[in-house]
Amino acid sequence: MPTDNLAVIGAQWGDEGKGKIVDLLAPAFSVVARYQGGHNAGHTVHARGRKFVLHLVPSGILHADVTCLIGNGVVVDPTALFSELDQLVAEGIDPQGRLRISDRAHVILPYHRDLERVAEQSRGSRPIGTTSRGIGPAYEDKAARRGVRIVDLADTSDEGPLAQTLRANVDARNRLCGGGAVSWLEALADLGRVWARLEPMVTDVSSYLDDAIRANQRVLFEGAQGTMLDVDHGTYPFVSSSNGSIGGVCTGLGVGPSAIGRVLGIVKAYTTRVGEGPLPTELNGDAGNTLRESGQEYGASTGRPRRCGWFDAVVARYAARINGLDALALTKLDVLDSVDEVNVCVGYRCGDQRTTKMPADPAVLARCQPEYETWPGWSAPTAGVRSFDALPSAAQRYVARLEELTGVPVAIVSTGSDRADTIIRTDSVVTTWLPASA
Ligand code: IMP
Repeated sequence: MPTDNLAVIGAQWGDEGKGKIVDLLAPAFSVVARYQGGHNAGHTVHARGRKFVLHLVPSGILHADVTCLIGNGVVVDPTALFSELDQLVAEGIDPQGRLRISDRAHVILPYHRDLERVAEQSRGSRPIGTTSRGIGPAYEDKAARRGVRIVDLADTSDEGPLAQTLRANVDARNRLCGGGAVSWLEALADLGRVWARLEPMVTDVSSYLDDAIRANQRVLFEGAQGTMLDVDHGTYPFVSSSNGSIGGVCTGLGVGPSAIGRVLGIVKAYTTRVGEGPLPTELNGDAGNTLRESGQEYGASTGRPRRCGWFDAVVARYAARINGLDALALTKLDVLDSVDEVNVCVGYRCGDQRTTKMPADPAVLARCQPEYETWPGWSAPTAGVRSFDALPSAAQRYVARLEELTGVPVAIVSTGSDRADTIIRTDSVVTTWLPASA
């Protein structure tokens, strides 16, 4: 089944600018589907003269002709979902009839947040720095086969399977967590109200996608977080609890690999990370603060300051391999406008060994020293530049060097937060699958 479908994947530690790129490309697609994560994500889109921050709802929602899907691999906090939908309606965007949620997606319940707090506390001096959204405990329940799925909410009778699961889970929560005891009966009643609002949106997403793809509708698969936060391929244990990399598309939506088509990796022109864990190119002090302020690097979900550093080609090349990237979208190039010299990490020195591979052990990665190539900054600003030829030559060379180091062509360059501040390289060999309308 050859397809024109496209997966958009974060190739660093999240916050690469996936929201902007998905919003930009969405008009060329009929469907935008999220396959993992939850409302820990914060996808920022500047459109209609405003800033939208989407957490659970796919970034295609701003386009009236696009259907948005939340797959079985996503963990859904109904309260967060409803407040996001209310917010969209208040901003003049009607998701009615355009948002469908998998009957197999797992539900984040209030006790998941309590359990996350206790788990983080129990890690003592080695916390993960999670988003406190209940994401990890919800995925734990899923793997332990005691999770609550959306389909389960249809039966909220006192003796039904949902009641039994809730009773056991709430009992465990009350044993583990301090504070007032939670009542499973109240939780059950709440879920009855949730179901009343959710039911019209619930569907078999895998089957929906199969029909859509057979009808030649184009699908964009929207990743959340990034490859380095992937529970299997990231800097474990300092990761999220899902597969944000390409494998998550199949498991999180119920599609086969041949449905994926092409894979676009999103990288920032430098590196950021929120939370704990190794970040080899991290800049402390003034240099890091300058990048943070020029890039406005504060978490879109939590407001936490992001750690900032130089572009790490070891990370990007690793992400290219894990995801089979066909092309890159390079975002926030303009943030480097104020920098006199640009460093790019081309390898790591770990003790007396040099490597260009990603170590499995986060303690080893934390000890690695980046090896830098230093490039001159650019003489003129790139902010708002909309054609590749109009970029200063030093910026063009920087992009070309990143292509060499990663082995992946840069098809899109973003030079500002606005949709229009984007260069789509029509001379690139991979642009045949980019929408003409973008
Ligand atoms: P959790 O996903 O809340 O469990 O957090 C696990 C780790 O992933 C923490 O370091 C978070 O800061 C990070 N994280 C989770 N979601 C995002 C995201 O959307 N962008 C960037 N970092 C994230």
